[in-house]
Amino acid sequence: MHDMYSQPKYKPGSPSSLFADDKAARKPPEGTLPIATGERAGPSSGRLGRVDAAPAPASSGASPYPVTLALLQRGRNRYDIYCAGCHGLAGEGNGMIVQRGFPRPLSYLDDRLLRATDAALAHAISDGYGVMYPFGDRVDAHDRWAIVAYIRALQLSQRAPVEHLAPQDLKALGEGAR
Ligand code: HEC
Repeated sequence: MHDMYSQPKYKPGSPSSLFADDKAARKPPEGTLPIATGERAGPSSGRLGRVDAAPAPASSGASPYPVTLALLQRGRNRYDIYCAGCHGLAGEGNGMIVQRGFPRPLSYLDDRLLRATDAALAHAISDGYGVMYPFGDRVDAHDRWAIVAYIRALQLSQRAPVEHLAPQDLKALGEGAR
C-alpha cells in the first residue's frame, strides 16, 4: 500500500543496490558549491552554520585585520559598489537610492555609529539591519572588514581632531578659514 508515510524515495543513510558501494547517498559532483553551509548559508537558505574562513574579531569587537592602504582601497572599491547607492559616497546617508525614496539610513557620523564596534558594523553588512537587506552572500568576510576599515576612514575624514593633522593640512585649514 502506498501512502504519505511510505513513499518510493531514499531517506538519509538508506542502502541502495543501484550503486557499487550499496549506498543511496552520492558525493556532490566535483566543482559544485554548497549553499547550505559556508559563506552562502545565512542569506541563501536562512540556516545558520556559516563557516567564515576569515579570522574572528578581537574580544573588544575590533577588526582582525590590520589597517593597510591595500585594505582601505579594497574597502573603498567595495563600499562604492555595494553601499554608496544608499549610504552616499561620504556616508551621510543620502545616496541616490535614498533620494529616490528608500528609507534614509543614519549618517556614519552619528554618535551611535562612531561608537559602534567594528564587529557590529561587519555584522550589519553580513546579516542586514532593519530594512537593509543582508550582503553576506555577495560581500565575503574579508571584504566586510575592508569596508568597515573604509567606513572608519570616512568617519575620520570628517571628524579628525585638529591636533592629528599634518602641518601642511593645518596650513590649508588656516587658509580656508581666512
Ligand atoms: C538599499 C539601501 C542600502 C544599501 C545598498 C546598504 N544599506 Fe546599510 N542601511 C540602509 C538603511 C535604510 C539602514 C537603516 C535601517 C533601519 O534602521 O531599518 C542601514 C543601516 C546600516 C548600518 C547601521 C546599523 C546601525 O547600527 O544603525 C550600517 C553599519 C550599514 N547600513 C552599513 C552598510 C554597508 C557597509 C553597506 C554596503 C555593504 C550597506 N549598508 C548597504 C540602507 C542600505
